[in-house]
Amino acid sequence: MKKKIYIAGAGGMLGEAFYRIFKDDYDIKCTDKDVNEQWLGFLDFRNFEAYRKDVEAFKPDFLFHLGAHTDLEYCELNVDDTYLTNTTSVENAVFIANKLNIPVLYISTAGIFDGNKDFYDDWDEPNPLGHYARSKYMGERYVRENATRYIICRAGWMMGGGPEKDKKFISKIIKQLVNGKRELHIVNDKDGTPTFTVDFAKNVKLLLEREYWGLYNMVCNGETSRYEVAEEIVNILGLSDEVTLHEVSSSYFNETYFAPRPPSERLVNKKLELRSMNIMREWKTALKEYIHDYYTEYLQQENISLVKEKIIL
Ligand SMILES: NC(=O)c1ccc[n+]([C@@H]2O[C@H](COP(=O)([O-])OP(=O)(O)OC[C@H]3O[C@@H](n4cnc5c(N)ncnc54)[C@H](OP(=O)(O)O)[C@@H]3O)[C@@H](O)[C@H]2O)c1
Repeated sequence: MKKKIYIAGAGGMLGEAFYRIFKDDYDIKCTDKDVNEQWLGFLDFRNFEAYRKDVEAFKPDFLFHLGAHTDLEYCELNVDDTYLTNTTSVENAVFIANKLNIPVLYISTAGIFDGNKDFYDDWDEPNPLGHYARSKYMGERYVRENATRYIICRAGWMMGGGPEKDKKFISKIIKQLVNGKRELHIVNDKDGTPTFTVDFAKNVKLLLEREYWGLYNMVCNGETSRYEVAEEIVNILGLSDEVTLHEVSSSYFNETYFAPRPPSERLVNKKLELRSMNIMREWKTALKEYIHDYYTEYLQQENISLVKEKIIL
């Protein structure tokens, strides 16, 4: 008999990878308030009674609470909904998991640090700057202080989901290139650690199967910056001769990206290393695989001959 996992908020970038990685070895039930796949059912986890009933009816062995509001600007503008979604709903998940006596998985973020250090290990003290980060950190703390058994994994700059689901940096850059832009403005004052959703889901699976409960930084290996990631995308697409990257400071995007962001959100997977559990790959290797696996068809469909001909994979 396969073990059962209830995965809440599974309709986004990370949920797509969790579905892929867990669906064969486990009996899974995936829900979201955005039912964008045939394998998703509807659940708005802000509704405690509905959440409790749905999870209890499935009788899972684990509860994965993945979903959140992840748009930092939305969070600054919609503060109550942000805490209801990113913090209070996590309390719901912990109540439910504790009542069923099952472990809960929560996804935290590198963004909970203030960026005054170059690198953060698992034991550094968070100091969240904006409402997204604060709401996620309060969710993390609630799990740490109240869940009977838990795994908390802190992700960095997420790479995953492909053209339909990826709302983040990689997709924004690729879409600009696909739309013919050859001059890109990229910030030169933001450092971080990319995190491939597929590697992340595999590493969570490993921890779960070893029953290594606790809090873990979980990012791809190798530190980088937004600028270097953009450069690497252009290289992977074979466009380095045609594309010019202009370095700008974050203030260049002040109007669009007005939420506070730390200058450094680089994590190191210290605990995973110490437990010999770090199976995250180098970010450049993961980025290449991500673009190859998720974007090849999209690039062909867009009929971008320049990109299509030169794509190096
Ligand atoms: N993306 C990153 O760079 C990043 C980095 C570090 C950590 N994380 C964390 O990783 C987790 C997964 O994020 P992701 O990257 O997969 O983000 P995502 O693509 O935005 O997916 C989040 C999903 O949660 C859903 N959701 C939001 N409110 C919900 C509710 N009340 N009930 C049910 N589902 C709800 C969203 O639906 P709607 O689209 O309808 O809102 C969306 O489908 C989150 O906890 C996030 O904080 C993300």
